[in-house]
Amino acid sequence: MHTLLLKDNEADIKKAGEILRNGGLVGIPTETVYGLAADALNPSAVAAIFEAKGRPMDNPLIVHIADIGDIERFSLVSEFPEKARALAEKFWSGPLTMIMPKGKAIPDEVSAGLDTVAIRFPEHKVAQAIIRAAKTPLAAPSANLSGSPSPTTAAHVMNDLNGRIEAVVDGGECRVGLESTVITLAAEKPRLLRPGGITVAQLESVIGEIDIDDAVLHRLKDGEKAASPGMKYKHYAPKARVILVKGEDFCEFVNGRADEETAALCYDEDKERLRVKTFTLGKNGESETQAHELFNSLREIDESGGIRLVYARCPKPEGVGLAVYNRLIRAAGFEVIDLEKL
Ligand code: TXA
Ligand code: MG
Repeated sequence: MHTLLLKDNEADIKKAGEILRNGGLVGIPTETVYGLAADALNPSAVAAIFEAKGRPMDNPLIVHIADIGDIERFSLVSEFPEKARALAEKFWSGPLTMIMPKGKAIPDEVSAGLDTVAIRFPEHKVAQAIIRAAKTPLAAPSANLSGSPSPTTAAHVMNDLNGRIEAVVDGGECRVGLESTVITLAAEKPRLLRPGGITVAQLESVIGEIDIDDAVLHRLKDGEKAASPGMKYKHYAPKARVILVKGEDFCEFVNGRADEETAALCYDEDKERLRVKTFTLGKNGESETQAHELFNSLREIDESGGIRLVYARCPKPEGVGLAVYNRLIRAAGFEVIDLEKL
């Protein structure tokens, strides 16, 4: 299959809409990461997403809308809880996904057989225009091959999916750089399943205290059931082995182990002091920059070739830093060295 590289002009957005209406797959820009979109109400189109990404069928997809009214218009949920409405009012459009009891229009392929559905109203104008052009809600996971870092540019999507999907729309670099915050409102108490650009403090300022799912910070134990199936996989990983290093003596530690095949994923301030190849996480303490840089740097590590081991700085798991930590610890397959405990 030849993959069209489309631009974000009116004619190309219309073309993307037609492909989607006809059951095809299109890579689309959003403010978080690029999504691999299909008509959410067409089961065979949705099934093709899993095929193209090599995604396990038990991992449900997010349904993207371009208007809060789409939820009722398309019967996407069976209940739109009060707290979900309050969060929608405050944070949509934006990098927030809400899980609700699923409506009758949602095919089992989207919800992976669960009785809930994830809904997001992206803020990216091109994403909104494509959804409107398709005239249907779009199911879209991140547009990477399953397991690899999420794509934040159209070139990343092409790199992973060229020849496997009908088209990619280039809408520039993603603003946030990490996937949306996921919260469930289908449980008794609201619970954070995946941290992202909308922080715990922001959510709590609207609906009061929320729970944080165990899988956000810890590896699930063997046989433990994941509330968010995506969180159970090793994920976001470059081909090189990544080890997360906690503690202030990061540079000394890495320099003591320097060789040709070792690199550091570090703060800008560390670069001069390190004797290995460096990739940036952004400045120390600047969580939003770190979120923006992370996936791009993980991809650059693979592209630079010859690197087998990466020591990564461990960001403070607070605010947007919680999302950076959550992705990095998965990229590291939960391998952590704590310098204070050595
Ligand atoms: O920012 C984003 O959310 C991007 C862009 C494209 O919108 N999409 C994205 O999709 O990250 P994906 O498929 O890579 O991640 C969706 C996550 C997975 O961890 C999945 O398990 C979880 O959301 N999820 C989806 N539906 C769910 C449900 N009904 N219950 C629990 N978790 C769900
Ligand atoms: Mg993903």
